[in-house]
Amino acid sequence: MKLVVATKNQGKMREFKDLFEGTGFEIFGLDDLGISVDVEEDGKTFEENALKKAVEIMKICGEVTIADDSGICVEALGGAPGVYSSRYAGERATDMQNNLKLLKEMEGVKNRRAHFYCAMAIAYPDGRTHVFTGRLDGKIAHDMRGRGGFGYDVLFELPEYNNMTSAQISSCLKNKISHRARALAKLKEYLTAQK
Ligand code: IMP
Repeated sequence: MKLVVATKNQGKMREFKDLFEGTGFEIFGLDDLGISVDVEEDGKTFEENALKKAVEIMKICGEVTIADDSGICVEALGGAPGVYSSRYAGERATDMQNNLKLLKEMEGVKNRRAHFYCAMAIAYPDGRTHVFTGRLDGKIAHDMRGRGGFGYDVLFELPEYNNMTSAQISSCLKNKISHRARALAKLKEYLTAQK
């Protein structure tokens, strides 16, 4: 069975291909299909954005399509930056600018609980849709640490791993425990049960 992943991100494509290896699913990305549309992520929730992206791309390619949306939610900031994670410090903000803004907002804040969240949607050409979710709990650090990962990883402490940040653990471990890996595992379980 053919599965289209609505992303141009080669890192995400690798994760999908690795996880589905040997399952009989054939994975294609937007670049493989020559699709260059950018679906606007204007929903209020991760679920809305993931569904919108999956449905729009499914309508273009006519194949079963998967799309995800993810971000970081900080308890003391009422869940911000949430769906605005990639543009927290402005439309074209860099990871560094986003992290500096988050550190500033968290100055003097005692409650540092936060989580990464991922919604993974699947859309079928017959109109059926499903959304699977995953989260990873942690805390916002007081300074940036680590060289791995991307985005907010340098600020995301993992109490279960000696308070290392998700930029300090190995990419292999991160790909096992991450919000995306957890949502993806649920999707894979669902798809393999359907076969
Ligand atoms: P998207 O799901 O690719 O749109 O990701 C949205 C934004 O959330 C990214 O630009 C990052 O800032 C943040 N984010 C999502 N997942 C992670 C992660 O695993 N580590 C660090 N930041 C993340």
